[in-house]
Amino acid sequence: MYKIAVLPGDGIGTEVVPQAVLVIKAVSEKFDCSFEMREGLIGGSALEKTGSALPQETQDIIAGSQAILFGAMGGTKWDRDPRMAQGSLLALRKSLGAFANIRPAYLYQALENASPLKRELVSGTDILVVRENTGGLYFGEKKREEGENGPRAFDTMVYSHREVERVARMAFELARNRRKKLTSVDKANVLMCSRLWREVVIEVSKSFPDVELEHLYVDNCAMQIVRAPRQFDVIVTENTFGDILSDEAAMVVGSLGLMPSASIGGKIGLYEPVHGSAPDIAGQDKANPIAAILSAAMLLRYSFNLNAEAQAIEKAVGKVLDLGYRTADIMEDGCRLVGTREMGNLIAREITVKG
Ligand code: IPM
Ligand code: MG
Repeated sequence: MYKIAVLPGDGIGTEVVPQAVLVIKAVSEKFDCSFEMREGLIGGSALEKTGSALPQETQDIIAGSQAILFGAMGGTKWDRDPRMAQGSLLALRKSLGAFANIRPAYLYQALENASPLKRELVSGTDILVVRENTGGLYFGEKKREEGENGPRAFDTMVYSHREVERVARMAFELARNRRKKLTSVDKANVLMCSRLWREVVIEVSKSFPDVELEHLYVDNCAMQIVRAPRQFDVIVTENTFGDILSDEAAMVVGSLGLMPSASIGGKIGLYEPVHGSAPDIAGQDKANPIAAILSAAMLLRYSFNLNAEAQAIEKAVGKVLDLGYRTADIMEDGCRLVGTREMGNLIAREITVKG
C-alpha cells in the first residue's frame, strides 16, 4: 500500500488535483497496485478554516505519507497575510529536505503548434531542468532596514560544497539514464557562489565519464533555450536561475499548464504542477489539469519506482492530445475545447479502458 498525502491547496489547485487523483485511481485499477490517499488543507483555505496555513492535522498526514501530491497555494486575498509564510512552498520544500527540484519540459508532438516559437525550432524538445531547491538566494540571510538613503534591503546567496555536490550527483544520474548530456548553468564570471558551483560540478563529473558535461552562463543559457532548445538534455542550476529558466522552458513547450515538478532528495517527495493558484480562472473548470496529472506520474516514478505506471499516464496524456482535445490555454483551430474535468476523465479513461 503506497501512502500519498493529497494537498490541493487554493485556487485551481482544488480543481486540478482531483483530476490527478482520478488518474492515480485509474492506474491502481489497471495495474493492480493500491494507494492510500489522505487529503489535507494547506495555504489560504487552511488559514480560513483553521487559522493556520499548515495545520497540525495536515502535518500529521504528511508525516504518515511517503509522497505528497500538491496543487497550488495563495491568492490575492492572503497576499499580505504573514501567517501564510508558515505553509509556504519554500518552507515546505526545505522542511522535507527536498534539495532537488526536477522540471521536465517535454514537447508532445500534438502540441508543436501550441508553442509561441516556430514549429521546426521546438519540435523534439525534451529538457529536464534540475533546480537546486533548498539553498542559495532564496534561503540566505535577508533584511530590510532604514539607511541614510532611505530604506535598504539585502538578500544573500550562499552555497556549500555539500549542497552543490548532492544536486550535481543527482543531475548526473538522471542524465546517465537519458541522452547523457549535462549542462551546468552558473554565472561564474561574476559570482563567487558560481565559481564554487562549477568547481564542485567538475569534481563530481569524474564519477560520470559517460556523461558529457558543458558549462553555460545563465544569460547565455536563457538565450539558447529559445534559440535552439533541442541542444539540451539535462540542465542543472542553482535555485534562482532554475526558477527562472524552468518557466522559460515551460513556455517553449507550450504552456505552464503542462509542466509538472518533483521536489526530491528527502524521505518524502513533493509533487506539484509548476503553475500557481491562478485566481483569475479559478472555479471555472478552465484550468489545464495536465501538469498536475504529469506530477502524479512523476510521483509514481520517483517515490515508488512504478515506471510502467508512470509511463502509462504519460502515454495517455499524449493520446488524448493526439485525439485533439485541448483546454483553453493550449486551444488551437480544429481542436476540441474541453474543461478541467473532461480532460481528467479522458486521460483516466484512456488508462483504464484502452491503455
Ligand atoms: C516555483 C514558484 C515558487 C518558487 C514561488 C511561488 C516561491 O515560482 O515553484 O517556481 O520560486 O519556487
Ligand atoms: Mg517559479
